[in-house]
Amino acid sequence: MLLRASPAIFLPNGATAAAGTGENFAGSMLSMMSSSSVSSPSAAIVCSAAKGGSSNSRPITGVVFEPFEEVKKELNLVPTVPQQSLARQKYADDSESVINEQINVEYNVSYVYHAMYAYFDRDNVALKGLAKFFKESSEEEREHAEKFMEYQNKRGGKVKLQSIIMPLSEFDHAEKGDALYAMELALSLEKLTNEKLLHVHAVASKNNDVQLADFVESEFLGEQVEAIKKISEYVAQLRRIGKGHGVWHFDQMLLNEGAAV
Ligand SMILES: [Fe+2]
Ligand SMILES: [Fe+2]
Repeated sequence: MLLRASPAIFLPNGATAAAGTGENFAGSMLSMMSSSSVSSPSAAIVCSAAKGGSSNSRPITGVVFEPFEEVKKELNLVPTVPQQSLARQKYADDSESVINEQINVEYNVSYVYHAMYAYFDRDNVALKGLAKFFKESSEEEREHAEKFMEYQNKRGGKVKLQSIIMPLSEFDHAEKGDALYAMELALSLEKLTNEKLLHVHAVASKNNDVQLADFVESEFLGEQVEAIKKISEYVAQLRRIGKGHGVWHFDQMLLNEGAAV
């Protein structure tokens, strides 16, 4: 935010006037500008806030915070080239990179879940609850990626999308069956995502980026722990019921109650 104030104006004869006080001020200005002792209006008007030179030449104000003096160094930091972010402040390069990496992690996980959705939605598999669960989970991971993209722009970084790896298309497993195999894979992916999120947090802490640390904590870490607990329970339930008839009931449960992770 730019700081604005009505600075005192010091006239040549020692009198002062507040800026913008009407006719008296305008009259003083005109007489100053016509005076032979003053070469230009800018030389005659000395704003205490805009005055250069050492601090000794400044009027003694008795205030601790002098916004016009202190803002000068910030003004010098405002970029002038259009390619640079104006908002960026104390946002480290490795924080920017790790956010781009996390966007890629979320997209990759979203892609795997999308492949699982397509598998369980096949006519010869037809586990509609699992299909629904993984479709919603895929959408949620994509939302996570978008949240990080939005954050990257908020901090003045640049979003750089990277390649996404081709996921599996078959999820059947001779011993475990498809439902358990897919759910175990999902559990591993959620744990991996949690590790990656903790890495983002570690980079934020290393750079004393309190806001980034808070963003990861408040928006992701709690939810991630919840997701790991929930999928762990699904894995445990699928291990109990085996590959047969029980899977159909599990699938019905997801169809009616399950929510994305
Ligand atoms: Fe996620
Ligand atoms: Fe997730």
